[in-house]
Amino acid sequence: MQFSHRLDRVETSAIRELFKLLGQPGIISFAGGFPDSAMFDVQGIKEASEKVLNDSPASALQYGATEGYPALREELALFMKSKGVQDIDASGLIVTTGSQQALDLVGKTMLDEADTALVEAPTFLATIQCFRLYGPKVLGVPIDEHGVRVDLLEEMIQTHRPKLIYLVPTFGNPSGAMLSLERRLKVLELAVKYETLVVEDDPYGDLYFDSEPAPSMLSLAHRVPGSREWLVYCGSLSKVLSPGLRVGWMVAPQAMLQRATMCKQFSDAHTSTFAQATAAQYLKSGRMPNTLAHVRGVYAERALAMGQSLREHFAESLEFNQPQGGLFFWAKLTGAKGGLADGSAFAKKAIEQGVAFVPGAPFFADHPDHSTLRLSFATSGSDLIRQGIERLAKAYFEN
Ligand SMILES: Cc1ncc(COP(=O)(O)O)c(C=O)c1O
Repeated sequence: MQFSHRLDRVETSAIRELFKLLGQPGIISFAGGFPDSAMFDVQGIKEASEKVLNDSPASALQYGATEGYPALREELALFMKSKGVQDIDASGLIVTTGSQQALDLVGKTMLDEADTALVEAPTFLATIQCFRLYGPKVLGVPIDEHGVRVDLLEEMIQTHRPKLIYLVPTFGNPSGAMLSLERRLKVLELAVKYETLVVEDDPYGDLYFDSEPAPSMLSLAHRVPGSREWLVYCGSLSKVLSPGLRVGWMVAPQAMLQRATMCKQFSDAHTSTFAQATAAQYLKSGRMPNTLAHVRGVYAERALAMGQSLREHFAESLEFNQPQGGLFFWAKLTGAKGGLADGSAFAKKAIEQGVAFVPGAPFFADHPDHSTLRLSFATSGSDLIRQGIERLAKAYFEN
């Protein structure tokens, strides 16, 4: 069969291959990007869906507007306002089928083959793949513990004149890093100065541990005149409530929202009305603050356990920053004392010891760093995390 040439630009990810091995019994997995299903607020979602079926079955089970279920757009605007975003109302956002669809709509509406997109090095793998389908060059900008290096970002903007810059500024996947306030403002200034679209992908911002992270760039935009016109924000309920609902949203300038809505119409007509109505009712019920407090507490404890255990077992063999939120540790094998320095080779050994993680190289759009790895602490309790890190150490040191 002759498939579309655009498929030549993407490949099944190395990560997906690894996931095939995860079905083996007894494996402790730090590989997924999933939230812990034990933390879903099943009771709250049940009550919300029952109320929807009792009160508004006709609209919740019928076709709906491509832009989104009106009640959900209202609730999401309020949710964004509660997080410090000024000047937002229901008409300023559209609901998407997960934030993944928002990213696809960004690609579809903005990127052509002659274009360049800048992303963090490393960044969310599915974004690299989804942008590539539209044909642009995708180039990585180096990061450090404070997120993307804005000095290098400006140089790369000058050299490559990108159509857009994609960032996960708060507890990035896979980096776990948080872009500093100063750098957030600088990125917004660069967007205006070079008239370049900035895409802020923010599925993890609510998952902070000890203290609130820097405000989203969307909520800072009023401090940089003109920047709101160059900013797209993608939000998601996946990591805080449930990924199965597939509820995400996109805030963007009106001209872009209109085109994204048109493309969404051709793609899935609209996000499930039932899921949207349930999410709207859930947000309206006022349960979200407690749900967030709960998941933050659980993930904070797990992150602490993983950090302590990694330090204890690996010492100078592994470099990493303790994440302040999100779901991930991003670590680098130093090769100290002649130890293993390749993430993929280590991942294979780890599987043999019954523990899985994702090697870091596939998260780079270009120039992969093979010594890196991503470990998720989301889905195992602290004891299992410690057991998993012991196995990792065994795989590493007994080779
Ligand atoms: C950075 C980032 N963006 C977007 C997504 C997509 O999430 P969803 O489509 O479930 O909202 C993920 C999921 O892992 C992610 O890590």
